[in-house]
Amino acid sequence: MSDGTSGPFDLALEDVLGAGQQLADRIKGVASDAEKSIATTRHLAALEGQRVQWLGREHGVLTKAIEEIASLPKGERGIAGRAANEAKTKIESLLARATAEVKGEAMDAGLQAADDLTLPPRRLRLGHMHPVSRTIRDVSRIFGTMGFETIEGPEIENDYYNFEALNIPPGHPAREKWDTLWISNPLGDDPALPLLGRTHTSPMQVRVMERRKPPIRVLIPGRCYRHDATDAIRESIFFQYEGLAIDENLNMSDLKGVLYSLARQYFGPEHRVRFRPDYFPFTEPSAEIAFSCFICEGKDPSCHTCGGDGWIEAAGCGMVHPNVLRRVGYDPDRYQGFAFGGGIERLAMLKTGTPDIRLLYQNDLRYLESV
Ligand code: PHE
Repeated sequence: MSDGTSGPFDLALEDVLGAGQQLADRIKGVASDAEKSIATTRHLAALEGQRVQWLGREHGVLTKAIEEIASLPKGERGIAGRAANEAKTKIESLLARATAEVKGEAMDAGLQAADDLTLPPRRLRLGHMHPVSRTIRDVSRIFGTMGFETIEGPEIENDYYNFEALNIPPGHPAREKWDTLWISNPLGDDPALPLLGRTHTSPMQVRVMERRKPPIRVLIPGRCYRHDATDAIRESIFFQYEGLAIDENLNMSDLKGVLYSLARQYFGPEHRVRFRPDYFPFTEPSAEIAFSCFICEGKDPSCHTCGGDGWIEAAGCGMVHPNVLRRVGYDPDRYQGFAFGGGIERLAMLKTGTPDIRLLYQNDLRYLESV
């Protein structure tokens, strides 16, 4: 009968096939079910689920079938046992291969993502030189075009070079203008040589003249220290550039030409420059050069940057005083020269339109990246 109903003439399956063969066939069926479902599994966690489903110690489908072997008559066990071994090896190797494939695919996918040349590039964050360093370079380069060699000198000076040799003896009123940090001398505290943070780069005029013979043309940028209250254009630690030229025929017009050339090369021809008499103990005559205020252009009497008069003092200067020349052993009747000293930060501020000197030293990237 083929209509699926059982009748008296139907033979029970076990009457035709041995019990061992039947179990062996079921086991093969388990193996092929396992094969199909492993083939469609593409995740590592799901593959582990498959292993538990088929081979799990307690409830694995194959495990259960294998347990049945023990209850078969002895002669029937062999055929089922062989089928069980084959099925187990087959499922294990299918699982192992699928696991390796899924892992490999994951790696390939990772590599592909890393190598995807169509991705937009990450933005490069390139830094740039600090405006103060850049100004030092610019100034050195500009004076370099006029034959000045850039050198450096000590930030910690002694009284002699900072004051005495510059015609500022003890008690001279100019010392008050240039108060600074004093440091006890670690080399024995010689009271004749107290150390201090140099208040200007001018001591280097003396140090250079002591060591070299004219003609001299040097530029000395460097850090200086003053007992000054900080405001929009003053810091107690700041940079200056010092210039010194000594030769047989130098005069005020050379000095003026050099400083005007700085102004033109640094700012361009449109910037206004003011040159007027001033006083310094170590130059005679002395002068001051100022640049027009880039913030208010002289139109705002309450401007913090220029103090309201429209000019920003840029450098003190003058012809080197004969007393200074004599002290280093130069004959003032034969050699003359000029010197100038100005603030690096002020140049940087004027060029970049920075209204307050403190911005230069606060390390705020919002400002630093904008200049
Ligand atoms: N050293 C002076 C200052 O700091 C500037 C200066 C330098 C003046 C050289 C004359 C000559 O103000």
